[in-house]
Amino acid sequence: MSIAASDGTGTLLETRGLTKAFRSLVALKNHEIIVRPREIVGVIGPNGSGKSTFFNVVTGFQRPNAGSVTFAGEPIERMAAADIVRLGIARTFQGTRLLKALTVEENVRAAAQLRHPSGMFDALLGTPRLHAAARATDAITDELLDLVGLTARAGTRASELAYGDQRRLELIRALATRPRLLMLDEPAAGMDSTETRGILDLIRLIRDRYGVAIIVVEHDMDLIMNLCERIQVLAYGERIFEGTPAEVQANPQVREVYLGHA
Ligand SMILES: Nc1ncnc2c1ncn2[C@@H]1O[C@H](COP(=O)(O)OP(=O)(O)OP(=O)(O)O)[C@@H](O)[C@H]1O
Ligand SMILES: [Mg+2]
Repeated sequence: MSIAASDGTGTLLETRGLTKAFRSLVALKNHEIIVRPREIVGVIGPNGSGKSTFFNVVTGFQRPNAGSVTFAGEPIERMAAADIVRLGIARTFQGTRLLKALTVEENVRAAAQLRHPSGMFDALLGTPRLHAAARATDAITDELLDLVGLTARAGTRASELAYGDQRRLELIRALATRPRLLMLDEPAAGMDSTETRGILDLIRLIRDRYGVAIIVVEHDMDLIMNLCERIQVLAYGERIFEGTPAEVQANPQVREVYLGHA
């Protein structure tokens, strides 16, 4: 799989003045973030602080009211979600969104095909391009199933997987689109500490092996503090602090707003 490339300035993703309102509620206000290739950045904040909204506007699921999103040098704030995936941003959702009636393997394959869909004529004529794309899809699917230990479950219906395996399947579905930036919304939600540790190791392995940048939203502070190189803190839709895990833990404003004590 290809290694992430940036626009040459060392910035992969940049938001500026990014704002999203739902009627009178400003869910995200003048948001700014810079993410560089291969970085693991955490975004934390209390419930309703705008974390998922940030994901939604960056990935084209929602249109911002104002501001810009630049990915690898291209403005993407007006782009459709499917085009943003093709450009190289993949995400997971806070609640799982698998194709539950399909098998584990079909879920990954469908995602792998999103990135390089072959045209209708390719399909009709069976062109070399189609064969090459099919081989690439096969290889990626096998590799990713192996990565999360789901090879033996390839033929199992996604709905029949245990919860933890469903979350891992969702993660490799995102990875199957060959992103340069992977955005994970609460990847360890509902997991015990052992499973959470497994997710942390998996996220780190994914960054090291595939060279992607990763943004993680999580309420699990152990995971965030141990995994992330940089953490941004949101409160009421605004960025209130950004720094290393140690700086975040030591900051009085963060402790008060987020952790509930100074
Ligand atoms: N589609 C929507 N319509 C109306 N209000 C919304 C919508 N999506 C989010 N909101 C509101 O915007 C605010 C930010 O929500 P968001 O989901 O981004 O928070 P969050 O930080 O992800 O919270 P959590 O930690 O609970 O997932 C909340 O007040 C939420 O109720
Ligand atoms: Mg959320």
